[in-house]
Amino acid sequence: MNISGDIRYIGVNDHDLDLFEGQYVVPGGMAYNSYVILDEKTAVLDSVDARFGEEWLANLADALEGRKPDYLIVQHMEPDHSANIIRFLEVYPEAAVVSSAKSFQMMKNFYGTDLSGRPRLIVTDGMELTLGRRTLTFITAPMVHWPEVIFTYDAQDQVLFSADAFGKFGALDYDDPEGWACEARRYYFGIVGKYGAQVQAVLKKLSGLKIGTICPLHGPVLNENLSYYLDTYQTWSSYGTESEGVVINYTSVYGHTREAAELLADLLKKRGCPKVAVNDLARCDMPEAVEDTFRYGRAVFATTTYNADLFPFMKTFIEHLTERNWQNKTVGLIENGSWAPTAAKNMKALLEESKNLTFLEPVVRITSALNADSRAQLEALADALTASPSA
Ligand code: FEO
Repeated sequence: MNISGDIRYIGVNDHDLDLFEGQYVVPGGMAYNSYVILDEKTAVLDSVDARFGEEWLANLADALEGRKPDYLIVQHMEPDHSANIIRFLEVYPEAAVVSSAKSFQMMKNFYGTDLSGRPRLIVTDGMELTLGRRTLTFITAPMVHWPEVIFTYDAQDQVLFSADAFGKFGALDYDDPEGWACEARRYYFGIVGKYGAQVQAVLKKLSGLKIGTICPLHGPVLNENLSYYLDTYQTWSSYGTESEGVVINYTSVYGHTREAAELLADLLKKRGCPKVAVNDLARCDMPEAVEDTFRYGRAVFATTTYNADLFPFMKTFIEHLTERNWQNKTVGLIENGSWAPTAAKNMKALLEESKNLTFLEPVVRITSALNADSRAQLEALADALTASPSA
C-alpha cells in the first residue's frame, strides 16, 4: 500500500490473537502498522508483534526494492511494535536506531541492550532528521500511551505518524461494519483514557501543523475528513459528551435489578431520550460498557448489595472508570437489597474519586423486587435524567 509517493505501508494483520494487551477481545483481529519512507535516505517506522517478524521483514524487503534502511525510528516501545527491533538489526546492522532517551532505557530492560556503541540517535521534542527531499520532525507524546512515545511529522507530504493515537481495534482486512469510531473509542478509553491531559498537550502541539494523512500504529491510515478525528480526540481527551443519551449499567442476580434497568430504559425512550444504551456488566464486554459510559453525558448504575458492599462486577466496573479519570457526568443510582441495602452509598463512595459528577435524585431503592414505590422512583429518575437538554 502506498501512503504517498515515497511512503509505503509494511504492517501486518493478526487474526489469531485471543486478547490484545492481555485483556481486550478483538473480534475483527488487530493490525500492527509499520511504514517505510523511501527518500535519499530510507527510514522505517516501528516494527510489529513478535509473531509476525518474518512477514514484516519480507514486507520491508519488498518495499525497499534492494535498498538498505538507513534508520529505524522507534516511536513506541510496547512490544506490539518493538518486538522485532533486535531481529531487524541482525538483518540490517548498519541502520541507526532513532528514538527517545526513555525508549533506549526500555530497550535495555526488554532486550538487555540500550544499543549504545552502535549507530543510534536520541531525539527530543522538535528535533529534526533530514532524509533528503524531506525533513522529519519528532514530537514527544508522553503517556500516549507510554512515557517514551514520539510522533513523527513529515512536512513535505503532510503526514503525521501518530504512534497509538487515532488507532483502533481491528485488522485492516476486516471490514468493520461500525466504521472507525466504535472500536477506536473502545481502544482509546481502554488504553489511553486515563491520560486525557497528556493527549490534550499533544493535540495542542499538532494544532499548528498541516496534516493531510494520519498514519497510526493500529487501524486504518486516515486521509479524509481529518478534522473529524482530531475533534473526536479533543472531545475524548477532555472527557466531554460525545453523544446525547443515557447509559444504564447494571448487574442483576435474580433478574429484579435487570427489570428495573429495562423499565428505566423504556421510560427514557418514552420521554424522547435520543439514545439509551443498556449493559449487563456480568455478561457484556466490559470495555464496551466503559466506552459507552465515557461517550454519553448521563450514566445510571444499578446493582445489588453484596457482602454489605457491591456486587463484584459493578465494583470492578466503577474501578475501570475511576482509574481512567472518568468525570464531568450526571449520575443516577439504583440499589437493590433484601434486608440492608447499602449499594447506592457504596457506589457513591467509589465514584467520589471522579471529578465533577452531578448525582441525581431520587436514588432508587428496590427491596428485593420492584413494587409501586420503586416504580414511582424510576419514573422520577427518568424525569430527572431527561430534564436537561443534554440528556
Ligand atoms: Fe500499540 Fe501502546 O501499543
